[in-house]
Amino acid sequence: MTTRRHFINQISALAGASLLPTFKGLSSNDLQSISSFSPEKSALLMASDEDYWYQIQQAYTVSPQIINLNNGGVSPAPTVVQNAVERYSKFANEAPSYFMWRILDQGREPLRENLAKFSGVSPEEIAINRNATEALDTVILGLPLTRGDEIVMSKYDYPNMLHAWRQRELREGLKINYVNIDLPLEDNDLIVQKYVEQMTPRTKVVHITHIVNWNGQILPAKRIADEAHKRGIEVVIDGAHSFAHLEYKIPDLGGDYFGTSLHKWLSAPIGSGMLWVKKEKISKIFPLIPNDKPNSDNIRKFENLGTRPFMIEQAIGQALNFQLAIGNARKEARLHFLKNYWAKEASKIPKVKLNTPIKPEYSGALAHFSIEGMEAGKVEAELFAKYKIHTSPVKWEKLDGVRVTPHVYTSLQDLDRLLDGIKYLSTKS
Ligand SMILES: Cc1ncc(COP(=O)(O)O)c(C=O)c1O
Repeated sequence: MTTRRHFINQISALAGASLLPTFKGLSSNDLQSISSFSPEKSALLMASDEDYWYQIQQAYTVSPQIINLNNGGVSPAPTVVQNAVERYSKFANEAPSYFMWRILDQGREPLRENLAKFSGVSPEEIAINRNATEALDTVILGLPLTRGDEIVMSKYDYPNMLHAWRQRELREGLKINYVNIDLPLEDNDLIVQKYVEQMTPRTKVVHITHIVNWNGQILPAKRIADEAHKRGIEVVIDGAHSFAHLEYKIPDLGGDYFGTSLHKWLSAPIGSGMLWVKKEKISKIFPLIPNDKPNSDNIRKFENLGTRPFMIEQAIGQALNFQLAIGNARKEARLHFLKNYWAKEASKIPKVKLNTPIKPEYSGALAHFSIEGMEAGKVEAELFAKYKIHTSPVKWEKLDGVRVTPHVYTSLQDLDRLLDGIKYLSTKS
């Protein structure tokens, strides 16, 4: 039977600290017992179990000098992942063309299978690459479209994706119809309606960001995708912020194409990403970096990236194990708990405005706040100067404030300090 002590021993191994040097010592039965620890306790109750999360915090090597609340930008990797990169790097450097290309690369197919299983799709639909930009640009720039074809997207989509579509607009005469919304907006019916309003008989693609990076709002991707499909329109989903953050499988979102970074919520090594393309759509997408068969229906045609660090790619496997050990439901519940912990209190402080709806269907870990009379850059700079809290200033469309993103290693003391900082700044504005 799984006991608490057994669990603590196992998870300490996961920390890569003094008990066991790496996660690699754990058998699949051990992993099973970590993930099924306290099965009688729901993910929701576990969300506030500080003993459990303390052990997870020990798995990371984050700086004690600053409090990093910009995990939305890029996340740190736990020790077990860092060690794998280092180990594979040393190994590869013994004779790169042999150890990297012939030995390490043998891990690519098992990794593809594991990522596919985690995502609820076929391995024949998964390509491993370097980031969400590369994954999504593969689709945005590779879809065969012609002059006059229309795209529906929002000004709240990520700049790299806006730029890629705009380049096609400029170069090939496509037309982008922007959805007319202002975030935050706690009304999914209205959001779906605003997307539908922009769909015309010429619309070929709807581009949807599942979690908007600017304020952390979750968009009703499946509902928008269903409306698009009713009209014969294809759907590209930017899952950079939702993958390994919210509990879902890729098909639940109803898209045809999905791209994500793995160095955000999966805590995989920096410079890792993933593309999913529905099997029957693969052949028509021209790769960004072509191989000899650009029209093939083999998903591997999108991995012709040239020489790159396979040690980063292969250590994605350790990050995936780490994620599975925590469990998606538990992780999502904890991230909601952390966001609520600071955001609910912050919203009670005079002059502070929360610009993210905090109900679980509208947001996960990311949230944005502003202080009346103080612009984004100043709030961010003062939080760092006085409290050594690192956040992300966000001035975009009508948002003017700071985005706060905790991760699984964030402690409640860190968030108490953030609240002290916000209270202090609100009295100065
Ligand atoms: C919504 C969204 N899409 C795409 C990206 C691009 O991710 P990457 O820099 O890993 O390519 C980001 C990065 O923050 C993002 O927030």
